[in-house]
Amino acid sequence: MARKTLVNPFILVLLLVVPCIAAFNVTTLSFNDAYAPLFGFNNIVRSADDRSVRLILDRSYGSGFISSDMYLHGFFSASIKLPSDYTAGIVVAFYTSNGDVFEKTHDELDFEFLGNIRGKEWRVQTNMYGNGSTSRGREERYLLPFDPTADFHLYSILWTAQNIIFYIDDIPIREVRRSEVVGGDYPSKPMSLYATIWDASNWATAGGRYKVNYKYGPFVSEFSDLALLGCRVDPLQAPPSTSRNCTASDAELAATGLAVMTPERRRAMRQFRERYMTYSFCYDTLRYPETFSDCDIVESEKSRFKETGHLRFSGSGSGSSSGGRHRRRYGRRRARVPVAADAEKQAAM
Ligand SMILES: *[C@@H]1O[C@H](CO)[C@@H](O)[C@H](O)[C@H]1NC(C)=O
Ligand SMILES: *[C@@H]1O[C@H](CO)[C@@H](O)[C@H](O)[C@H]1NC(C)=O
Ligand SMILES: *[C@@H]1O[C@H](CO)[C@@H](O)[C@H](O)[C@H]1NC(C)=O
Repeated sequence: MARKTLVNPFILVLLLVVPCIAAFNVTTLSFNDAYAPLFGFNNIVRSADDRSVRLILDRSYGSGFISSDMYLHGFFSASIKLPSDYTAGIVVAFYTSNGDVFEKTHDELDFEFLGNIRGKEWRVQTNMYGNGSTSRGREERYLLPFDPTADFHLYSILWTAQNIIFYIDDIPIREVRRSEVVGGDYPSKPMSLYATIWDASNWATAGGRYKVNYKYGPFVSEFSDLALLGCRVDPLQAPPSTSRNCTASDAELAATGLAVMTPERRRAMRQFRERYMTYSFCYDTLRYPETFSDCDIVESEKSRFKETGHLRFSGSGSGSSSGGRHRRRYGRRRARVPVAADAEKQAAM
């Protein structure tokens, strides 16, 4: 499978000479090195060299994989290519969570890709939960400066004891700093990495107006340049110890420099957010009349958003309620019944 994350031909040449280096100078892994199938086993297709994996959603099932270990802090990254054409109702998720181990006090960091009707672009959502703060969703949504179905792009979650950075390619798009006001909502227990594709007909596109239309399936999402760095914690210890000495791994993570918000990175992040952010929980005063104290309200930015938290002049028209409830994004529950004929007609518009 061709690597398409790097556009610079010089770096591409380097790649051929020094394999296994992704855009961030982080060693990439084979699937077997660090991951395992999670659900929809028949819909997980690994490449012959085991360095990329396709997750498929069809009429019968979605699919997903999970890291074999849990990590206390880390860098979680993959090049992802999303399914194209008609993808309403589909969610591809790349996230860290410990919901299976700490049911009531779980932590989570999300990239969620929300499919769309033909001709409308995918949207990306990031979110954070800490210590079971599922009633306080910190969702943000963005459009992308590229077509995520045409090529692979690198999506990364960096999580240290001090800050969290979501990266798209090498651009930081969101930073959450640990602080007094974030408190227990800052993820602090070991998490696993998950990648899934699933049918979210009831909310993903225009608040559930457009369902998954299996006429356009199967839907295939490809993952490559898999990378995982951090303090590995034995998942068989139940609950995994949070007191493990992660000094060495934390130092290794720090040495990558990925947690450092340089002036260049900060500028790039601001530009991205000005251009592409279409929803922020910080401006959603309908859902949260009391602004979160960790929200950095920028008045000039605020004026661009409605009280729903959505951009005032969003061309997309497919924005949807971000929903206050935490959603499970995989479930061994049976897959959906095909959508009703009239909904299909509407969705095909
Ligand atoms: C990449 O990382 C390795 C070790 O982690 C380091 O020795 C090397 O100098 C780095 N290369 C670049 C281009 O930063
Ligand atoms: C996490 O939640 C539990 C139960 O609600 C609480 O006892 C604990 O103090 C919280 N931890 C932090 C770090 O806030
Ligand atoms: C953790 O390990 C480092 C060496 O990697 C050691 O210097 C340090 O004292 C240890 N800390 C604890 C609390 O065990």
